[in-house]
Amino acid sequence: MEYTCKDFKVGKCEGEKVVDGETMPLVLQPTEPSNNDLETLLEALKKNKEWFEQMIIKNSAVLLRGYDVQNAVDFNEIVEAFGWDDIRYVGPAPRTHVHKRVWTANEGPLSQFIYYHHEMVLMNETPNKVILFCEVPPPEGGETPFVPSFRVTERMLEELPEAVEEMEKKGLKYTLTAVSKNDTSSMRGRGWEDAFGTSDHAEAEKRAKAMGMDIEWLPNNGAKTILGPRSLTKVFDGRKGRRMWFNTVVGMHGKEISSATMADGTEIPEKVAKRCEEIIEEESIQFKWEKGDVLFLDNLALLHGRRPSLPPRKVLVATCM
Ligand SMILES: [Fe+2]
Repeated sequence: MEYTCKDFKVGKCEGEKVVDGETMPLVLQPTEPSNNDLETLLEALKKNKEWFEQMIIKNSAVLLRGYDVQNAVDFNEIVEAFGWDDIRYVGPAPRTHVHKRVWTANEGPLSQFIYYHHEMVLMNETPNKVILFCEVPPPEGGETPFVPSFRVTERMLEELPEAVEEMEKKGLKYTLTAVSKNDTSSMRGRGWEDAFGTSDHAEAEKRAKAMGMDIEWLPNNGAKTILGPRSLTKVFDGRKGRRMWFNTVVGMHGKEISSATMADGTEIPEKVAKRCEEIIEEESIQFKWEKGDVLFLDNLALLHGRRPSLPPRKVLVATCM
């Protein structure tokens, strides 16, 4: 496969890392600074669609930088240039629809750290790609760090092989409590009515079942969703046989509104979750958002999060198959 393409220039960004021989993210820029208009970019993307998709899989993250991408309408055109199927977001983040395939990334407070995750990791169907666009770069903080998932598995196996094998063998079970009605004071404040698209208990249960979850109703009209068994790691086609850390143990373990245990109820030892958290942080990669940046993440290969940010910050998202 050709690693270069004459319609893009490979650039660099502060914070990039070389992991197993691949630069993450791969920065693609206009061939000349003056060739940065949206039309030129759309043409280049349409012409090199397959190559571009291969680069996303090869490098796990591709950052388009230096183009004149102004707003959600421009971003949507970039997303649509590829013709990938859209996948509707299901999960705890409060989001607002902006334009066609474009949504706000999370309406939760900017002061909170959104913990690392594979997008929709607990659903039956997860998007292959998460695409983010920076309309307003944060003055400080607000990075979108990402983590090569296979590195987490590798390091956990090196350090805690028995715990990994036990969790893998037994599988995992999660619970997450959703409030009634959206609460944007929390990054997990999406109400169950909104999440399931109904306020009818029986209908919500049916829809939850279809997504592989059970619901327990709480006295305050909140809903406790129970998910499991789910696997600890997964291997996906075309990703060099890498074993991805495709779970959300650290994000949900021992929290006020969520839990993660082994599927038979065995607790996950605190030190296992703690060490995993440190490894994830050590393996993280981050760059500083610039206005007009468009970041393509291979959601099957990377965990991503959001660091606390000073306002204003506006990053929009689209999720695709
Ligand atoms: Fe996300």
